[in-house]
Amino acid sequence: MADRGFTPTQLAARAAYLLRGNDLGTMTSAAPRLYPHMWSWDAAFVSVGLAPLSVERAVVELDTLLSAQWTNGMIPHIVFANGVDGYFPGPSRWNCRELAAHAPIGPDTSGITQPPVHAIALQRILDHSRRHGRTTRAVAEEFLDRRWPDLVRWHRWLAHARDPKETGRITLYHGWESGMDNSPRWDRAYANVIPGELPPYQRADTDVVTDPSQRPSNGEYDRYLWLLEEMRTARYDDYQLASTMSFAVEDVFVSAIFSLACEVLANIGEEHSMPNADVRDLHAWGEKFRKGVVATTDPRSGAARDFDTRADRWISTETLAMFAPLLCGGLSRDAERSLLRIFEGPRFCGHPDLRYALPPSTSPVSKYFRPREYWRGPVWPVMSWLFSWAFARRGWAERALILKAEGLRQASDGSFAEYYEPFTGAPLGSMQQSWTAASVLDWLG
Ligand code: SER
Repeated sequence: MADRGFTPTQLAARAAYLLRGNDLGTMTSAAPRLYPHMWSWDAAFVSVGLAPLSVERAVVELDTLLSAQWTNGMIPHIVFANGVDGYFPGPSRWNCRELAAHAPIGPDTSGITQPPVHAIALQRILDHSRRHGRTTRAVAEEFLDRRWPDLVRWHRWLAHARDPKETGRITLYHGWESGMDNSPRWDRAYANVIPGELPPYQRADTDVVTDPSQRPSNGEYDRYLWLLEEMRTARYDDYQLASTMSFAVEDVFVSAIFSLACEVLANIGEEHSMPNADVRDLHAWGEKFRKGVVATTDPRSGAARDFDTRADRWISTETLAMFAPLLCGGLSRDAERSLLRIFEGPRFCGHPDLRYALPPSTSPVSKYFRPREYWRGPVWPVMSWLFSWAFARRGWAERALILKAEGLRQASDGSFAEYYEPFTGAPLGSMQQSWTAASVLDWLG
């Protein structure tokens, strides 16, 4: 039921209208002003929202993203829209075209990656295509046939280039690669990033989100930009990055997403008679990274941890990352039950002061919690969507439904904000964020 404002039908219409408004032709901007280009995991979630509107358009979204895939298999975190300004760091700051041997010839891209949620999007596209006639089904299947090798290459790159020590966990060289830029998860690892001589720069984000307390700080930005300098020096070479970057963390949440995505892609491959060797590899990675995730967990609580490979130290935080095993499975029954209790209890969704029973990015009881500051506390609708989808897949229908119902209540203000203040439900960050509209469309679909 709507909490205030819009009914579900109105909300769906507004979400569809928003995605049309953010449509640049063959890509959807992540948000009209703050993120005026295509972001990798945004694009995947956007195609989840496009699928119920038009399978054909959803396919175009993923096609555009995959056209920017690097020759080593990496899907870059940003594909820059031609001739669009207003975002920093833009193509010239990354300078991948000049420096990176593997950058694509066509579009300009950034030189880092983002969480591999694309197989989930493909699954949703195939689900929707089945509700249509032969022509639409054929569009989805043709896409699958054509892009299958690229998707497998993407997963192979993650499994190898980003697991140099074969721990079954994905290593990241920039906090932006986690998607959770300034999460307290990375504070200590960033403390070891000491910016040297930085070419001058001017932030563009704080021109759009004018309340600086909703965005990362200038000190954080200096570190983000310094890592970019380190990457440019390494010419974005996988091998060089592994030994030279001052930030290198094994991200348990990305690893869980990867394990889950490998299983989803393997199942798609089985169903559509893709090469056995690929399906076998995908299952093997799914298993390996599930074990890698479970190996980080506390045996009693089931909570997962990241690992700082530079400081050789585990990172325990009360953030969404601790719930990684709920996405990919693999915990003992008792540990899983205990982790679900934490997820639903007063440290997260069951906190008595929350406006909606949705997981905040950082626990409100954590000393690092800041209710308005980007990944340090606010509720991100797309994360609620991811958990609801994963819970449904794991057979927890009721839990999935609760997240959906609460997520829709939160969204009923119609702002489609990037994130929300957990206690008041106030919309924060960018408005008209594409993936928020996409989550709503999938829930209402
Ligand atoms: N989320 C980052 C930004 O704020 C980049 O991925 O620009």
